[in-house]
This record gives sequence, structure tokens and C-alpha cells, in this order.
Amino acid sequence: MHKLVFATNNAHKIEEVAAKTGNDFTLLSLDDIGCNADIAETGATFAENASIKSHFIFNHYKLNCFGDDSGLEIDALNNEPGVYSARYAGTHGNHDANIDKVLHKLKASFNRHARFRTVISLIWNGKEHLFDGTVEGVIRHQRSGFKGFGYDSIFQPDGYNITFAEMSMQQKNAISHRARAVEKMVAFLKTVK
Ligand code: IMP
Repeated sequence: MHKLVFATNNAHKIEEVAAKTGNDFTLLSLDDIGCNADIAETGATFAENASIKSHFIFNHYKLNCFGDDSGLEIDALNNEPGVYSARYAGTHGNHDANIDKVLHKLKASFNRHARFRTVISLIWNGKEHLFDGTVEGVIRHQRSGFKGFGYDSIFQPDGYNITFAEMSMQQKNAISHRARAVEKMVAFLKTVK
């Protein structure tokens, strides 16, 4: 059994990753290792933010660990909101205001193409490895659906006619950016364990 720290306290994310890492790894949260630091996401890219988190844990605890960062990139907005996805409208985590801002900025835009992206930075035996996951789609003109979180109610993945917020958690987890990045990391871990 290998210990692996996930630099988050988001129980939902930990559950999602634990389902994929299986019995060979014990996944530990920040709380589990007694870390109550608020690791600042000051990077200009998802990779930089993910790397800040993993390096913080590695430098302080010398444990195998990974951090992640995700967000929405909209073509017509020069890939905004990007790393500002959680705080696009000003206040961190105000998803309703963030969606209103996106819909307002895209009002006159014919190009609605967008993607969710996740980057994971894993530090395994002291060496960093990056894994990227994306899901392409379009931004709807109005919200639809009540499941999920964040921008789910306005994001329709390519090949579907429903939004992420209309999908079951299993359906979304099968195709999501986060799931795709996690699957790449898990494939790597299977080769080194
Ligand atoms: P995090 O880095 O995974 O915490 O994501 C940062 C922000 O990106 C979230 O607060 C959401 O605004 C947005 N986001 C990331 N993943 C998703 C998703 O799966 N659905 C909707 N919004 C997401």
C-alpha cells in the first residue's frame, strides 16, 4: 500500500480519485496529514497552480503527493475565465454570478466553443509529472439542469444534447476533464507501483 497525498480537502474530489486509484494506494487529504495551510493559487496557468500545491506538500512533508487545478476556457473570450474560473465575478465560489458574467460577455458571440481543463501535478519519488485532461463543448445561451456545480448548467459537452448539470454524476465522471487527467495519472502510477 502506497501513501499518496491529494493536496485538497474536497471530499468529493477525493472520493472520485480514490475510486480510480484502487487498493494499491491510500489517498490522504490535507486534513489527514495535519496540514491546515491555505495554499495560494497565484499561478498564471492551471499547471503552475497544480505545481504550487504539490511542491508545497512535498517541500513540507516529503511525501508522494499531487495537486490539481481546473477551470473553463472559452474560445471567444481568449480562454477566460481560465485560472480565474472560481472568482470570475469577483467573489470566490459565487457560481451564479460567474455564470451571469460569462453569459453577458458571450451575448453577441456566435462562437460558443469552450472546454474544461484539469492539470494534475504529481510528485512521485521527488520528481514532478504533469497530466492534462480536457472535455470540449459549447456554452448554452441559458442555464439548464441542477446537478453538479460551477459552470455545469451552461456547459454542453460535444456529442451530447444535455448539459453537465443534467447528467448523473457517473455520466459526467466518465467524460469529465478531471476524470481524464486522473486516468492518465493512474495509468502512470500503475507502471511505478
Ligand atoms: P478547481 O480547481 O477544480 O477547484 O476548479 C476551479 C473552478 O473551475 C471551480 O470553482 C469552477 O468554477 C470551475 N470548474 C472546475 N471544474 C468544474 C466542473 O467540473 N464543472 C463546473 N465548473 C468547474
